[in-house]
Amino acid sequence: MPIILVSFVVFFMKIFHKAAELKNYLKDVRNSSVSIGFVPTMGALHQGHVSLFEAAKRENEVTVGSIFVNPLQFNNATDLEKYPRKINDDIRVLESTGCDVVFIPENEEMYPAAPVTTMSFGALETVMEGKFRPGHFSGVGIVVSKLFNIVQPHKAYFGQKDLQQFLIIKQMVRDLSFPLQLVCCPTLREEDGLAMSSRNLRIPPEKRPIASEIYKSLLIARDALKSESVENVKTRVKNYMAGFPDLELEYFEIADGETLLPIENISNQKNIALCIAAYLSGIRLIDNILLIS
Ligand code: PAJ
Repeated sequence: MPIILVSFVVFFMKIFHKAAELKNYLKDVRNSSVSIGFVPTMGALHQGHVSLFEAAKRENEVTVGSIFVNPLQFNNATDLEKYPRKINDDIRVLESTGCDVVFIPENEEMYPAAPVTTMSFGALETVMEGKFRPGHFSGVGIVVSKLFNIVQPHKAYFGQKDLQQFLIIKQMVRDLSFPLQLVCCPTLREEDGLAMSSRNLRIPPEKRPIASEIYKSLLIARDALKSESVENVKTRVKNYMAGFPDLELEYFEIADGETLLPIENISNQKNIALCIAAYLSGIRLIDNILLIS
C-alpha cells in the first residue's frame, strides 16, 4: 500500500505583551533587512481592519499589528468602557490574515505614568473630530508615536474611514521626521453601505437598518453637488437626516480633502471631502467620501 505523506505547515503568529521583548525580536528582523509593515488597531477586528493587514502583507515581508484600546484618545468615559473588546476572536482573525507578529500591551505597559506631553495639530484639528472630541487627536498622536518608536516600521497602514486621523498622522510623520511611509487604504463597507466599524457591534439590531442612511446621505450630497451650491447641499443633508428621528446629526461638512477646512464653493477644488458624524442609539458613527477630480 502506498504511504501518503501529508505535510502540515503550521503557522505561528508571535504575540508580545511587552514593548522591550517586541523591540528585541524586531531588531533581528530589521538586521536581516526585510521590510516591516505595521497596522495599529484598537481590536474588535472586522473586514476593514483585515483589508489593512492584507495590504501590509502584500507590500512587506513581515507584518506587525497592534491591539490596544488607547484610553488617552477617549474623551468620553462611557465610550471607553463600552468599546468592544474581543481579544481571542481578534487573535484568530489575525492568524487567518497571516499576520506575523502582534503587540497587545496592557495600559501599564504603554503608560507606566500618565504622559504629560500633549500634541496639537493646528487648523487640522479645529474642525470635525478635533472640534467635537477635544483631546482626541493628542491621544492618537501620542499612542501612534509610541507605537512607531516601538515597532519602527518601514510602512504603516491606516484607513480612509478615519480621514482626519490619517491626515493628522501624515502631518505628525512629516513634522517629527518619522522614517516611514504611510499608506491610506479605502473604506470597507457592509452591503448596505454602512462603513465597517468596531462600534457597529453596539448598534441594537432593530436600529441597524437606519445606520445605512449615514452613507446614503453622503451619496445624496455627492450627487446634489453636481448642480447645487455648497450651502444648499448642506441644508439638503441636514433635512434628509432630520427625517430619521433615531439619527442625531453631529456634523456634515464639505471640506478641502487635504486641509479639511470648510469650502464655500467647489469650483477649482480638486480634492473634496464629504464628512459626517451622527449618533444612533447613543453610538457615534463617522463616515466620509472623497471626490477627486
Ligand atoms: P481602529 O478604530 O481600531 O482602526 C484601526 C485602523 O483601521 C484605522 O487606521 C482605521 O481607519 C482603519 N479602519 C477602521 N474601519 C475601517 C474600514 N471600514 N475600512 C478600512 N479601514 C478601516 O483608528 C484607530 O483604531 C486608533 O485611533 C489607532 C490608530 C489604532 C490609535 O489608537
